[in-house]
Amino acid sequence: MLVSAKEMLEKARDGHYAVGQFNINNLEWTKSILLTAEELKSPVILGVSEGAGKYMTGYKTVVGMVNGMLEELKITVPVALHLDHGSYEGALKCIEAGFSSVMFDGSHYPIDENVAKTTELVKICQQKGLSLEAEVGSIGGEEDGVIGAGEVADPQECKKIADLGVTMLAAGIGNIHGKYPENWPGLRFDALENIKALTGNMPLVLHGGTGIPEDMIKKAIDLGVAKINVNTECQLAFAAATREYIEAGKDKQGKGFDPRKLLAPGAEAIKATVKEKMELFGSVGKA
Ligand code: 13P
Repeated sequence: MLVSAKEMLEKARDGHYAVGQFNINNLEWTKSILLTAEELKSPVILGVSEGAGKYMTGYKTVVGMVNGMLEELKITVPVALHLDHGSYEGALKCIEAGFSSVMFDGSHYPIDENVAKTTELVKICQQKGLSLEAEVGSIGGEEDGVIGAGEVADPQECKKIADLGVTMLAAGIGNIHGKYPENWPGLRFDALENIKALTGNMPLVLHGGTGIPEDMIKKAIDLGVAKINVNTECQLAFAAATREYIEAGKDKQGKGFDPRKLLAPGAEAIKATVKEKMELFGSVGKA
């Protein structure tokens, strides 16, 4: 059964580790992530962007697929199904479809509008026992057509949103989606410290997990990050493994063109990436 992310994140915050959110795009992605979480006895959050939801034909399909897998694969670790960077309308649709967690990304609105819309969703999520992630300070880079400038969140605005009763808060601290450019100056730990000082117990979320050096990840966890999102790194691993298979001509050998064979190296590569991240984040054995 899907669970809210609340309990797993509070445990992570208190235990000084982070739970990974891994974005899903299809059956292979979902299966690889769930099997790895189960094998490593780690809690996990499956992230679904609005674009990925649309690609998978809609949120109901996603809920059906994930619930089916939890049962058929006999998954026992806590799993949350979470809308990633949702609009207000998208969040309502996911709640209706059976997601156990949603993110409302109001970071591009003026703060008062972000507060007003987040307040509405806090009410709905609390009633239904779902977790809610809010965002202050947009994350840089591009994800599914959403382009963020990579702001550093204002700690006072973070406090305003945290005080509304959200479960977790994503705050821009110089992180960006996708690969980091060569000249990236790194995470703004000064900003993270200021945000933590004002938001107290609120579990903080670090987006753009792909390519952040290990020492920065560990420091971010020390400073209060309890959830880390990874998307691009699984995509790159999948693409590289698939490329290798095809370049080696394996799709032309025997029944190597069978999608169950063709997509297998990519699926294994996702498992390896997820394992590496769960070990780095410290969530192994915490289920
Ligand atoms: P990356 O694609 O950079 O790993 O970021 C993922 C993310 O933050 C999803 O919200």
